[in-house]
Amino acid sequence: MAEQPSLVKSVIKKGIIGVIVGAILVGAAKALAFPPVFQSVFFGYAMLGAAVFILLDAPSLKPIGGLKAIIALVAFYAVLSGVYIGGASFLPQYDPGDEKGKIEKLLKAKRAATEQGKAEELLARAKALSDKADTIMTRLQAVGGAAVAEAPAGGEGAKPAGAPAAAGGDVIALGKEQWNLQECYNCHKLFGEGGKKRGPELDNIGSLLKPEELKQKILDPQSWMADGFEKEYEKKKMPDKYKELMEDKEVDALVAFLSTLKNTAVATPKPIKKK
Ligand code: HEC
Repeated sequence: MAEQPSLVKSVIKKGIIGVIVGAILVGAAKALAFPPVFQSVFFGYAMLGAAVFILLDAPSLKPIGGLKAIIALVAFYAVLSGVYIGGASFLPQYDPGDEKGKIEKLLKAKRAATEQGKAEELLARAKALSDKADTIMTRLQAVGGAAVAEAPAGGEGAKPAGAPAAAGGDVIALGKEQWNLQECYNCHKLFGEGGKKRGPELDNIGSLLKPEELKQKILDPQSWMADGFEKEYEKKKMPDKYKELMEDKEVDALVAFLSTLKNTAVATPKPIKKK
């Protein structure tokens, strides 16, 4: 029993040292910008060390043997496992759903940006069309006078007079829009703009291909080949994707636009029929 007081003393002494060492470790960890989890883990290590040193001073146990020893061992492992499992379940768990959520959050902003871009493009298009409709209305009003003013109610009125011509202009404008939307300019120079020398300049294509042939080329790039572009043609440089990407109306509009390109000053290569 004489050991008892000295054990208490050593617990206090080594406990205090442990806390001091722990505090120093936490301070150093903070200074080195370790996250709080690590700071507490370091403190835990210091306390663990103190506990081990305290145990060294503990009175030795009476040796146990036989069944008792086995039970004690099993109990020791059970307690240890309980502490580990219990402790681990308190720590933040890895959840794939969580990670997915984070990734989704990151992507959402980007997606929203592109979707907004698309929406803006469509809005701009709608506005352009509505502006055009307004011009047509004014033009029709000038031509048809009172009859057109009643048109919304009566219907037919002046439609045949101005509509087809105006619609023609519209289709070409839509076709030019397709040129931009489908990014044909990435490979083809037109009006001196765009093209990275992959495809031929198309300023005179309207003189070289009939509308049906142009349509054929767009829907099946292997159907015609620009003279002198054999290498590009063999490597299938012109994308074979427009028949999936474009509606028939859009292809027709694009063809209508391309058919107006008759600038003979530009040497658009001769298309050669392949299919
Ligand atoms: C990735 C590059 C690329 C894109 C994008 C592209 N083309 Fe082409 N295009 C080519 C190449 C290379 C040729 C020449 C070889 C050939 O005829 O296939 C060509 C040839 C042509 C020709 C024949 C020209 C001639 O003088 O015979 C036409 C017409 C044409 N493209 C129209 C278009 C249209 C319209 C689009 C957009 C819907 C488009 N291209 C998009 C690469 C491209």
